[in-house]
Amino acid sequence: MHGANPGRWAASVVGFHWLMAVLIVVVMTLGWVAEEYPSSPDKVTLFVWHKSFGLTVLLLLFFRLLNRWNKGAPRHELQGWERVLSRTVQGALYLCMLAMPLSGWIINSAADFPLNVFWLIPLPPLTGASESLAELAEEVHVTILWIMVSLLVLHIAGALRHHFIGKNQVLRSMLPGAKPGTGQ
Ligand code: HEM
Ligand code: HEM
Repeated sequence: MHGANPGRWAASVVGFHWLMAVLIVVVMTLGWVAEEYPSSPDKVTLFVWHKSFGLTVLLLLFFRLLNRWNKGAPRHELQGWERVLSRTVQGALYLCMLAMPLSGWIINSAADFPLNVFWLIPLPPLTGASESLAELAEEVHVTILWIMVSLLVLHIAGALRHHFIGKNQVLRSMLPGAKPGTGQ
């Protein structure tokens, strides 16, 4: 039902996966660098990039989910526990991709900062100004960040395990340009 080759993810799913993986690593790096940067106009600029790319993740997530529902998933031959674990980790990563930008937007709103995406698009605050809410949202942002990093370690370890130990098609099914017909 989902395309000619059920052993592979649709090209658009692969495209979203790697585009967003790169973007998320960039957003995290900008967040860490901006956080450590001494107070200066450059620090503010780094945060504008951080927030703008972070909100791009939120926008892309919407289209990615629509596309993902549309295209479906390939059927891999996995053990029951592998299926449950990989689906749980993938679902939790989706929740993190939603919760990170939203909690960031709430920090910004509660801290009463203006939000100008790429210096072009002004976005309204999601909440009123509140110092305690800003602090709470910061804690949430950083807690979910570490949950997301841990999930990514599991996710990447799983992908490498499938490839090098299980010697199956799981990693190949998500790589761009793999030949059709190589699915199981
Ligand atoms: C995929 C989305 C996002 C990721 C992965 C992410 C990640 C991060 C990281 C790694 C930090 C540094 C944390 C630290 O070292 O304490 C950070 C801080 C921050 N982020 Fe994000 N972020 C995202 C989206 C956003 C968005 C959309 C906004 C605002 C609109 C935002 C606002 C902030 C703010 C204000 C801080 C500083 C918090 C503090 O002072 O502790 N983030 N984020
Ligand atoms: C920020 C980084 C990443 C995120 C948020 C992420 C998230 C996801 C999600 C949500 C899926 C489910 C398919 C979909 O709906 O698109 C998926 C599948 C997959 N990811 Fe990632 N991923 C990331 C990085 C990576 C990396 C670095 C690798 C490789 C080492 C990788 C390997 C895979 C593989 C092989 C699949 C297919 C798994 C299967 O068929 O069940 N991912 N990823």
